[in-house]
Amino acid sequence: MPIEIDAARLLSEIESLALISEAAPPVVTRVVFTPADMRARAWFAERCAEAGLSVRRDAIGNTFARWQGDLDAPVVGTGSHIDAIPNAGKFDGVVGVLGGLEAIRALQRSGFRPRCSIELLLLTSEEPTRFGIGCLGSRLLAGTISPDAARKLTDKEGESVETVRRNAGFTGALEDVKLPRGYYKAFVELHIEQGPILEREKIPLGIVTKIAAPASARITLEGSGGHAGGVVMPDRRDALCAAAELILAIERAAKTTGSPNTVATVGICDVFPGAVNSIPSRVRITLDLRDTNLTTRDAAMNAIDAAAKEISARRGVSIATEMLNSDAPADSAPEIIDALSAACKTHGERFMLMISRAYHDSLFLSRVAPMAMLFIPCRNGYSHRPDEYASIEDISRGALILAEALATLSS
Ligand code: GLV
Ligand code: MN
Ligand code: MN
Repeated sequence: MPIEIDAARLLSEIESLALISEAAPPVVTRVVFTPADMRARAWFAERCAEAGLSVRRDAIGNTFARWQGDLDAPVVGTGSHIDAIPNAGKFDGVVGVLGGLEAIRALQRSGFRPRCSIELLLLTSEEPTRFGIGCLGSRLLAGTISPDAARKLTDKEGESVETVRRNAGFTGALEDVKLPRGYYKAFVELHIEQGPILEREKIPLGIVTKIAAPASARITLEGSGGHAGGVVMPDRRDALCAAAELILAIERAAKTTGSPNTVATVGICDVFPGAVNSIPSRVRITLDLRDTNLTTRDAAMNAIDAAAKEISARRGVSIATEMLNSDAPADSAPEIIDALSAACKTHGERFMLMISRAYHDSLFLSRVAPMAMLFIPCRNGYSHRPDEYASIEDISRGALILAEALATLSS
């Protein structure tokens, strides 16, 4: 029987999951290991059980829902994340998880039997909101963060990953999360593009050939506080004024590498003590810096460091940079690009090859498995905002091509 996606069911599941949120609709906020995230995980496990998949969870909460194939064959993986940053939409990550589930159900309905087991993954904390670092679950799977380093990460309340995961019921050894060598024969992730290219080019599918390299840092500026009336301007060492200069230097650094792929963002700025009539004595900002090319990314980072030194000396404000992560880019595996291209051709769908400027769990899965990603358009390229939107036609098309590629890879 042909592979057919049940678009109505997929849409209703996306809508149901969006309602499991810490914020009122249409906003989705689902930070890892909060009650909303835990309810969403339980809801997801029920959907997997309904589909006859066996569900296993590791010590960080990565969830593996398996359609069993031959016991001695390697495994084909798909999936993404369901955690959502504050004030997000309903499609980032979710399309890969629920689209992956529907792809498996469509294969089941078609009568397909996998030789290689197909595993649908829900990966823990792709978003860096809570613990400062993205892709925590997939980093541990790939062994690119040590269990010790992961355990010690803390949230804003000072709660460690170790405490929070245990309270969430994940009590096994983090040492056991790393995948055995060769576990996945292939990993393929369906995702919204989070950029405008597919929509602009009027092409419904993108096959990702490379994922850009992310780096991030916490930067702390310490000056001197005091009374907003009493301290005259020449005597000030205002940490927020220094941060303002540094933020503009960061923007300049990203704009002047000569590559359109260098991007930098300061998304958090915490001001202490945060009172109208008090000079800011301490400011914490975050830096998110990315590029497809490590040479230009490092050049931007060096320019930011130089600017920090100059601003610090001139203003008498200390500036300390703590790198949180600095990752290499990933290339997709030719055999999975081929499987996705062939699937598009089988279904008469146009596609283009593209890079992903956003990072994804696939960046880390690529360290231990052949990987590629499939992108679908999202309206205006919007993502990480409540009006993020992908049409069910585009989502279903993505799920169909994913199903076809999973069939090839697991045969
Ligand atoms: C993922 O959410 C990213 O920030 O690229
Ligand atoms: Mn995201
Ligand atoms: Mn995502």
